[in-house]
Formats: sequence, C-alpha cells, structure tokens
Amino acid sequence: MDNLTVIVLAAGGGTRMKSKTMKVLHPVGGRSMIGHVLSAVQATAPSRIVAVVGHQREQVGPHIQQLVPDAVLAVQETQDGTGHAVRVACEAADVREGTVVVAAGDTPLLDGQSLREFVADHTASGRAVSILTGIVPEPKGYGRIVRDRTGDVVAIVEEKDADDEQRGIHEINSGILAFDAAFLTDALGRIGNDNASGEYYLTDTVQIARDAGLRVGAYIVDDVRQTEGANDRAQLAELGRELNRRIVTRWMKDGVTVMDPATTWIDADVVLEPDVTILPGTQLLGATVVREDAVVGPDCTLKDCEIGLGARVVRTHGELAVIGDRATVGPYAHLRPGTRLGVEGKIGGFVETKNAAIGDRAKVPHLSYVGDAEIGEGANIGAGTIFANYDGVAKHRTVVGRQARTGSNNTFIAPVSIGDGASTGGGAVVREDVPPGALAVSAGSQRNIEGWVVSRRSGTPQAEAAQGGVVDGDADTGVS
Ligand code: UD1
Ligand code: CA
Repeated sequence: MDNLTVIVLAAGGGTRMKSKTMKVLHPVGGRSMIGHVLSAVQATAPSRIVAVVGHQREQVGPHIQQLVPDAVLAVQETQDGTGHAVRVACEAADVREGTVVVAAGDTPLLDGQSLREFVADHTASGRAVSILTGIVPEPKGYGRIVRDRTGDVVAIVEEKDADDEQRGIHEINSGILAFDAAFLTDALGRIGNDNASGEYYLTDTVQIARDAGLRVGAYIVDDVRQTEGANDRAQLAELGRELNRRIVTRWMKDGVTVMDPATTWIDADVVLEPDVTILPGTQLLGATVVREDAVVGPDCTLKDCEIGLGARVVRTHGELAVIGDRATVGPYAHLRPGTRLGVEGKIGGFVETKNAAIGDRAKVPHLSYVGDAEIGEGANIGAGTIFANYDGVAKHRTVVGRQARTGSNNTFIAPVSIGDGASTGGGAVVREDVPPGALAVSAGSQRNIEGWVVSRRSGTPQAEAAQGGVVDGDADTGVS
C-alpha cells in the first residue's frame, strides 16, 4: 500500500517468560512469534517496516533483519511506554505522512488478511485514529474502549487507570492501531506520562484526536485471538495449539486428509498437496513439502523434507531429506540431512541414512547404515550393511553401481566402489574396489574348532549346553 509504515513493538522485556531468550523470539508453529507478525505485516505490502527494539536487542535486531532485510530498527533505550516507543520509531524512520499502523511483536495468530482489511477500512474512513478492538469475556489487563452515548469512541482507558464502571467494559484495545501519520507525529509530542504507570501511552492519542475534532473509530474484529499476545509459556503453548488447529483445518479444507488433527502438528511454512494423507502422531516441520497422494505417518517427524508423489513414509524421523515419487520409507527409519531417495526406491526398517543418494528403484531394505554414499539405480543392499564412512579422522565416500546386489551383513570400508551389476558375498568386508559384474568374497573359508567352548568357557551356561553335545577335541589345535 502507498506510503504505509508499519511499526512493530518489540522492546519490552517479556519477563514472565522467565527465559534467556527474548519473548518475541520464542518459536511457535515453526517461526518465532515476531516472525508470524512480520509475515502478516508483509501481507499489507507496506512502504516500510520499523521494528522497535530495546531489551536484548542484540538477539532481536539480527533476527528481524534476517527475516526482513530492509526493516528499520529503532532502538528504544528505556521502555517508557507504547507512546514513547512509537515516537522513537517515527523519528528513526523519519515518518511524516501517509498511514502508520502499530502492532505488537508477540501475537502469533495475527493473519495478513485481517490486517489488510483493517488498514483498508482505516484509509477508506478518513479517520485520524482507528483501533482494532474485540469483545472479550475476560477484559482484565487490556485497555478498555470508552464510547459516548451515540456510540462514538472517546477514549482508551488502561486497566490501571480505569474506574469500576470502565473496568466493566468488555470491548478492548487489541494493541493494533492505525493513524494518519501527520496527526500521529504531532500527537506523540503532546502526550504526557501522568498516569498510574508513569508511562507515555500511545492510547492517549485517541483523546487528543477527539479534542482536536478529528475522527476516531473502532474496527471490531470477530476473531480476537488473532491479536492475543503470549506473555508466558503456558499462553504460548495455548496459542501454539490454536495456531496448529487453524493450520490443520486450512489444509483439510484444501483437500488433505488428516486422520487425527489433535496429534498432527504442521508448521506454518509447510506445503501439502491435495489428496495427501497424514496419519496420527505426525509432525511436519519447517519447510517440509508433501506431494499429491503421499501417505505420511503414523508417528513421523519430518523437518525440511520433500516427500514425492504417492510416496509412503511410516514411523520415520527425517531432516533435510528428499524422497522420490512412489518411494517407501520405514518403519523406523532415520533420514539424516542429505538423504535423497529416487523414484520407487526403498529405505526400510531400522535404516539410518546420511548424505546418501539412493537411486531410482534402489533398495536398502533392512537394518543398515548408509553414510556418504551413492547407490545406483535398481541396486539392492543386503540386510545389515554398514557403509563405514569414517576412519576416525575423515569421512569417505562409497559408490555402489546400478543393479548391484550386495550380500547380507557387509561392511563397505570407504573410500571404495562396487561396480555396475557387481555382487558381494554374505559377510563381505569390502576394502578394495569391485569391478563391474564381479563377485567379491572376503570371508575366509569356515573352520570349526571342536570343543572350544567347553575348554575355554568351562562352568558357563554355554559350556553346560555344549556338554550336552560333542565335548571331545582340543581348542588349541582345533580341527577343521
Ligand atoms: C497495551 C495497550 C492496551 C492494550 C494492550 C493489548 C497502551 C498504553 N496500552 O497494553 O490498551 O489493550 O496493549 O495487548 O498502549 N513496548 C515497547 N516499548 C515500551 C512499552 C511497550 O516496545 O516502552 C511493547 C511491548 O514489548 C509489547 C507492546 O509494546 O510488545 C505492548 O506493551 P505492553 O506493555 O504489553 O502494553 P500493555 O500494558 O499490555
Ligand atoms: Ca501486553
């Protein structure tokens, strides 16, 4: 919008969080609280965003600049009230004209659409001040909206300064206000701090506008939770649950099946396609994307993963992994960063993968560790295979060619490569490259040392059991 300045207040201490992390930086739904606010603010397409920082600004400032690189940071050295904070912001950004919107940094449910509608209503109305208000059952702690007999807003009275009658008012100031900039900058110079808190109240601008004969109005929002702030961790958890409920509901309306919304957690930036199915106990976090017809769950935690069309992921913990179309993963798979599974590939039960490109239709079905590896198209890795990528100092790569078939219980000592169409025998320890089409066997031929248990482990339950069988023989010489 033309010449719109949005000021986000984030200088307060947030002491009730009892945290070394600044309040607005606490995460909820995959973003910081202020991250949600800034995202809603950006939906109004403002000309500039000014963030007021104070307490722990060395944490908050860089976070804001990372999310909105061209935001202006205004430093409020002492927290002398919301009126003072907005004055500091207007001075830092040299705001003189246009529209100014003020919001708090701790309202994670704030939605861009609502904010846009509020700003549009304000600018269309020609008011000097518009207040986003809500009617709440428990108005305690909020500034009350005082109206005259005709219903016009005459003042906002803070809880601490209110009389009994005013305390009975259920219409509250959400903390989001819109102003004509010229009026605001002038009014901020006139407000005093002669009140119960000794602070400069932004809300005093309402009376100043009235006294000057300017128009003031309230915009009542039905969904007042959007403007609810989290002051402590219990409130944060409650807002987090509500945020999740809203996100899950939105995806269901967009064609995603969610079997159990109560145990499904979806971060704000996750993308799901129609006909995805999410089974109970699943968390989709960060920038995870799930493509059409994929089924995820039960009991998966996927962070920053991409799950292909029609893929099936069961009881899996994954981070920064890309799963191909119609591939299957789990149950009990651990996908670490850099895992890429091709089309119709398989990562089966009790398999851990890291920095591994597993080709189309390639399979790692059982009980394996695949680290720093490339597995070619259609290859099959035997059960219980370890890609020994770490020599104690450095990591090395293993390459397995297309259509290779490796035996069970193999160890691949990297760096090593197994050629296209090659095989390895059961129990092979592969230290040297295997040419294409070759069979690598490394286990020696088997030797049975008769009587070894009884002579070396006498008195143990194992030896007792052995004595029920053949007991003859000398372990030192052995027989083959
Ligand atoms: C404020 C409003 C109140 C409204 C409520 C909604 C005023 C005087 N009161 O009260 O009418 O119902 O919000 O939640 O505006 N902040 C700064 N610098 C300061 C003071 C505050 O940046 O010097 C920031 C805080 O970090 C917070 C926001 O402004 O994000 C609101 O401040 P807070 O002290 O919580 O105001 P309330 O007393 O809740
Ligand atoms: Ca507050």
